[in-house]
Amino acid sequence: MKTFKRILFWVLIIFALIQFIPTDKVNRPVDHKVNFADVQRTPQKINELIKGACYDCHSDETIYPGYAYVAPISWSVKSHINEGREHLNFSIWGTYNQDLKKSMLERSVQAIQNKTMPMPGYIVYHKKANLSEAERMLLVQYFEEMLKSKTY
Ligand code: HEC
Repeated sequence: MKTFKRILFWVLIIFALIQFIPTDKVNRPVDHKVNFADVQRTPQKINELIKGACYDCHSDETIYPGYAYVAPISWSVKSHINEGREHLNFSIWGTYNQDLKKSMLERSVQAIQNKTMPMPGYIVYHKKANLSEAERMLLVQYFEEMLKSKTY
């Protein structure tokens, strides 16, 4: 029992201390000249779907949930956001070359259809990101239309 209490004591101390390790939650300002929705003149309904389902990890308009402020969960959240933005950042869409845009649209279609995006763990806590079949279809159709008409 004594050992257990001692372990618990140190776990609590460490938990308290790691709260002081900050994660950067400042969003870069969005440049409307290269922002996806502005460049593509995305219809409002589609824009809302992308914002609700993808923006937290794939844009500079991340909204941080409460649990993103508690270490060590905050580290995992931040690493998903960094990684997500590295792959695809809708806020700097206009800076991508045509090949990258095409590839991102194709991969987005695949990811939405295969339900690998939005990340399954994330949609449990984000109702808006838990897309219905119809909503998934709308997004897929929108991206496929861009691919077909080469308007990207
Ligand atoms: C909770 C965070 C999160 C959300 C929400 C999210 N993604 Fe991702 N996404 C990631 C991460 C992390 C990666 C990189 C690792 C990986 O591929 O799994 C990624 C990778 C991708 C890639 C690149 C895959 C590749 O093969 O290069 C695409 C495309 C993508 N996401 C599209 C989307 C779309 C579209 C949405 C919304 C419908 C979305 N994601 C929502 C975190 C997220």
